[in-house]
Amino acid sequence: MKVVGIVGSPRKNGNTEILTTHTLRAIADEGLDTELIRLADLDIRPCNACMVCQQEERCPIEDDLFPIYLKMKEADGIILASPVYFGSATALIKALMERAGYISLRNDRPFNRKVGGSLVVARRAGQNFTLAQLNFWFQILDMVVPGSTYWNMAFGREKGEVSNDEEGLRTAWNFGKNVAWAVNKLKG
Ligand SMILES: Cc1cc2nc3c(=O)[nH]c(=O)nc-3n(C[C@H](O)[C@H](O)[C@H](O)COP(=O)(O)O)c2cc1C
Repeated sequence: MKVVGIVGSPRKNGNTEILTTHTLRAIADEGLDTELIRLADLDIRPCNACMVCQQEERCPIEDDLFPIYLKMKEADGIILASPVYFGSATALIKALMERAGYISLRNDRPFNRKVGGSLVVARRAGQNFTLAQLNFWFQILDMVVPGSTYWNMAFGREKGEVSNDEEGLRTAWNFGKNVAWAVNKLKG
């Protein structure tokens, strides 16, 4: 059983990646396989509404999206993580959500009843909106979203600052434990 954590920050080794790695560690601690997928430096363009995926399970845009879609399809759990940019998820993760989400919707919903959830990092504001924005994606895709001991958010500005947010880390850890628990219950 496997959980993929997709990091939608354009900044490598940043706060979102640190938080996601922490959550994946909690999941690995329960014996599941994990993989961190970093969107930084990948070419992920937005959906262009060509509707090819309504006819067949593919996307004609030639970039890095489709192999990630296949990994998401194979996984038992999917985590989407984003820093807050202007009160919202990043354009990078939004592009992945649009395309992976639409291919899935139009091709027998392979994400159906997988476990999923989000992680958000902010300097100061916009974290509630962004968390809701990401969680809506899981809900329309018929997925199961476990909770944690707080909302899945942590604070930091410069790279590494999130490591000082003890409650944020604990929340992300407990979320990972609940993801692993839910995957084991649903798939075990
Ligand atoms: C373009 C841009 C917009 C941002 N907008 C917000 C914002 O609206 N609210 C906020 O709290 N932080 C905002 N930030 C700060 C980031 O969310 C913060 O630095 C975060 O830790 C970055 O995560 P990363 O290290 O994973 O890239 C913004 C940063 C950038 C570069």
